[in-house]
Amino acid sequence: MRLHAEVFDETEEAAEVAVMASAALSSPLNGVPVAAPRVVVGYALTKKKVKSFLQPKLLLLARKNGIIFVPIDESLPLSEQGPFDIILHKITSKEWQQVLEDYQEEHPEVTVLDPPNAIKHLNNRQSMLEEVADLNLSNFYGEVFTPRQLVITKDPSAIPTAVAMSGLTLPLVAKPLVVDGTSKAHELYLAYDEASLSMLDPPLVLQEFINHGGILFKVYIIGETIQVVRRFSLPDVNTYELLNNVGVYRLPRVSCAAASADNADLDPLIAELPPRPLLEKLGRELRGRLGLRLFNIDMIRELGTKDRYYIIDINYFPGFGKMPGYEHIFTDFLLGLAQSKYKRYLSGT
Ligand SMILES: Nc1ncnc2c1ncn2[C@@H]1O[C@H](COP(=O)(O)OP(=O)(O)O)[C@@H](O)[C@H]1O
Ligand SMILES: [Mg+2]
Repeated sequence: MRLHAEVFDETEEAAEVAVMASAALSSPLNGVPVAAPRVVVGYALTKKKVKSFLQPKLLLLARKNGIIFVPIDESLPLSEQGPFDIILHKITSKEWQQVLEDYQEEHPEVTVLDPPNAIKHLNNRQSMLEEVADLNLSNFYGEVFTPRQLVITKDPSAIPTAVAMSGLTLPLVAKPLVVDGTSKAHELYLAYDEASLSMLDPPLVLQEFINHGGILFKVYIIGETIQVVRRFSLPDVNTYELLNNVGVYRLPRVSCAAASADNADLDPLIAELPPRPLLEKLGRELRGRLGLRLFNIDMIRELGTKDRYYIIDINYFPGFGKMPGYEHIFTDFLLGLAQSKYKRYLSGT
């Protein structure tokens, strides 16, 4: 993985001198020394994603290392575009999934990040957490759980009874079952009592609310690299509030806000990041089980505990652009992929 980077590091200085010496030389990247492209990354991303992910700092660093990003035109046949070494995508339509699956069959040499079939698991809040529930990480620097939850697919009037029978503890967070890229899929409600739940619109999941000191850990996974950042989250719900409130309340989209809690003045017990070995193990396990290389995990630590963690959400190809240093991690990741492909090619497998 380091090979390309090292090769270019060595030549970088010379290239810079050459560019400076030749004022007439104009590159599309404003005089940045570029390596001949070796890795072509096709991307099919929404405009919003292009803006947040393909920031100039990533384009520049990648270009310096011989990686170029080429937009895919979804209205044209994919096979007539490229050739690509890698395809990055986050478009959820069924048609696009089919296009990619057909393309992958025809072009097994292209690395598709990630397989549409694997991404599908994350588009449903029930299947999303199934793999986590099956993990057994106990005695490994901490325990990782998922909150207990109930899936409601129809008949809102039956929710109060279903909840009472399930034994779930109030308050509950109600989340739309399907995560389809719309903002509606992220309209969450907090319910203080069972009766009010019949006001909600299934299909949804009802999840036990876990007090966690108002801090959430966003764990980003890019191939084998793991980065964790703190974010502000929902405040805890105390017994007084629980006993004196009824109804369902729309929750603000806290996790979306850019506010990082990394520099905030926090109680050290709440701020302490989850232990590295736990994150490494979790990342490795989930990468394998989900068959994904680009995702993040929303993780909280139960208030008053040192090592009880809950995973509440997993997202495919999240806002990596907010992650400090993402351009380096991503460039290395893409170079690593290209290099392992090259090795496979040399060994004929
Ligand atoms: N079970 C829970 N216990 C405590 N807080 C939760 C729980 N589920 C969600 N939250 C809070 O709500 C936020 C949004 O929930 P999440 O499941 O991540 O949905 P989204 O898809 O909108 O990101 C989380 O970042 C966290 O702050
Ligand atoms: Mg989330």
